[in-house]
Amino acid sequence: MSKNIKKAKCYEWLRDAVFYEIYPQSFQDLNGDGIGDIAGMTARLDYIKELGCNAVWVNPWYDSPFGDAGYDVRDYKKIAPRYGTNEDAKRFFAEAHGRGMRVLIDLVPGHTAVDHEWFKASMRADKNEYSDRYIWTDSIWEGGGEYATLRGISDRDGCAVVNFFSHQPALNYGYAHPDRPWKLPPDSPAALATREAVKDVMRFWLDLGADGFRVDMAASLIKEDDLGHPANIRLWQDLRAFLESEYPHCAMVSEWGVPKESIAGGFHMDFMLHFGPPAYTSLFRSEHPFFSKEGKGDITAFLDTYSADLASTEGKGLICIPSGNHDMPRLARGRDMRDLKICFAFLLTMPGAPFIYYGDEIGMRYLEGLTSVEGGYDRTGSRSPMQWEKRTGFGFTSSATPYIPFDKSTDAPTVEEQEKDENSLLNAVKALLAVRKAHKALLSFGEFEPLYAEKEKYPFVYERRAEGERIVVALNPAEREAEVPFLLEGEILWNVGEAPKGNKMAPCSAAVILK
Ligand code: NOJ
Repeated sequence: MSKNIKKAKCYEWLRDAVFYEIYPQSFQDLNGDGIGDIAGMTARLDYIKELGCNAVWVNPWYDSPFGDAGYDVRDYKKIAPRYGTNEDAKRFFAEAHGRGMRVLIDLVPGHTAVDHEWFKASMRADKNEYSDRYIWTDSIWEGGGEYATLRGISDRDGCAVVNFFSHQPALNYGYAHPDRPWKLPPDSPAALATREAVKDVMRFWLDLGADGFRVDMAASLIKEDDLGHPANIRLWQDLRAFLESEYPHCAMVSEWGVPKESIAGGFHMDFMLHFGPPAYTSLFRSEHPFFSKEGKGDITAFLDTYSADLASTEGKGLICIPSGNHDMPRLARGRDMRDLKICFAFLLTMPGAPFIYYGDEIGMRYLEGLTSVEGGYDRTGSRSPMQWEKRTGFGFTSSATPYIPFDKSTDAPTVEEQEKDENSLLNAVKALLAVRKAHKALLSFGEFEPLYAEKEKYPFVYERRAEGERIVVALNPAEREAEVPFLLEGEILWNVGEAPKGNKMAPCSAAVILK
């Protein structure tokens, strides 16, 4: 989509949007059943707003057997009873809007749960409206090629292609190059009917008050696509055109990870993720990430990908760098509070809309060795209940048995303690977000230019610019002094560790400087 994003209606709110990701089951349990709920999320909107976020992304909250934490949808139009009702969702939207906040919900267009009504009908031997809603091979003896299948559970002959876990049958958007009779083209009536069904789901939630979607596995709807995903790009251009004509103020962010492609497909934003190009991992998760005391990282590994992505998407969409999410180890793994402040100095001063994963703002830890809950497997350790207060149940629940165990360490961070401590991570994040909000140069669309970014060297220094305002961000996560060939001077708006002196930065320090 070549349209300049600044002309899109949602630009007005995306220009200063800061998102907070809510994992509904782990955020706030108000009815005491050990699992979070929408009433709890609503009660915590003020907290999110005071933190400095003006938008949220809510992970799937639909009716589901929860074999993949809700990414296995049983009914797209019904809130899971454990979270509340559709009325609660409506109230949540209204309460958020009343506070000037926006809400993106998770759209899972790629697959459903096996017990979705569509799939049940699709399994029947008789030809019906849903026979081709999913991808079925012609015979139980023919597999799905590069895709795994679900077989032997239907009266109908054939195997059903699955997307992620084997209980998540893939919805049928067609094949880019159909070479078997059962592979339908993307413009076949059945594939187009799936597309219409997704639009219908989108309409349903947008009418109820949602401001858009985070889209799950967006690049993989049309199967066997060519390199660069041209067929999936065309599909999303169609869905963006639909949004533009009916809900122009709404926005979409993709789980795609290649902004050049997703933004061409009409997404307003794409995530920089822990899979795909090594940009995110080189910062936070490779063997020697840049953001680490050991100081063995290489910022150019990040910049090579990022700068190219930024150039190819400029004026068209945003690249969003998340603090983490429900699929990856917590940012705090292997980092102390000061390290985390330096990470946040970066995350909250880069272009694009930042996404803060619940609990990262207090440095919640990745819990090692937890037994899988709801298909979380090694992701379970990043999904433990929010730690609001230092008391039994952490102020998350009154139940003695939370659905995922709590952080049992005696120094588990809490909101309550960090609110009182002026040097806490929570207060550092709040201060950074206040600085971001007050300076146009730091908002989503401000320009970005690296000033010092040398292979395998520290620090990393960059400038953000907008309308004549210039802000320099200097980051030295390494536990040793570092210097640049120019002076780091100006008004310090925020810093951690010792402030820069001349051209030198102290070990483990960061500063945001107004020029
Ligand atoms: C990506 C989601 O973030 C993840 O949690 C889920 O398991 C898969 N997609 C499958 O929907």
